[in-house]
Amino acid sequence: MGSLKGAAPPERAEAENRAAGTAANKAWRSHFPYHWDVDELVSRRELLQFAVFTSGTLFLGTALLAVLRLFRRKSVTAEQQIAPVAAVSPGEALYFHYPRPDDQAVLVRLEDGRFVAYNQTCTHLSCSVFYQEKQKRLFCPCHEGIFDVRTGEPVAGPPVRPLARIALRSDGEHLYATGVQP
Ligand code: FES
Repeated sequence: MGSLKGAAPPERAEAENRAAGTAANKAWRSHFPYHWDVDELVSRRELLQFAVFTSGTLFLGTALLAVLRLFRRKSVTAEQQIAPVAAVSPGEALYFHYPRPDDQAVLVRLEDGRFVAYNQTCTHLSCSVFYQEKQKRLFCPCHEGIFDVRTGEPVAGPPVRPLARIALRSDGEHLYATGVQP
């Protein structure tokens, strides 16, 4: 059986450990001094107030954006003349702005004579899509997104949502945009 002779009693060992810890702590503090007296302490209450204020601001901002978007959608129904029907031959495209002057749109006359129109904003990361006559498709150069020109549905690349379609009307001579279908 081994002897315990010479082993430090538990209280002494603990006191030694504490002393060593305090010495290490002092050394650490001298290497990395921190001035608590000049520190501006943030109370739990202040932190909570800040969190509530930030969340409230974010909530209000989001609500405001939602309302603006609603207004925007409502104003997207104004009718606008695009071009004479004869101005676009089958297989060709024409670019225009609708419903606002800074909204880019593309009108395409399909091979069967029908017209389709879309907002040019790619549904992936909002680059502009354009019509590729040879391939008969709508193409986004940013990440090579491809949309079916007949439906606006994505067929290749990263986009997963269809392009916003623009409703059209013809009086036989002219084509009109009559609204945006989200
Ligand atoms: S923005 Fe159009 S594919 Fe990425």
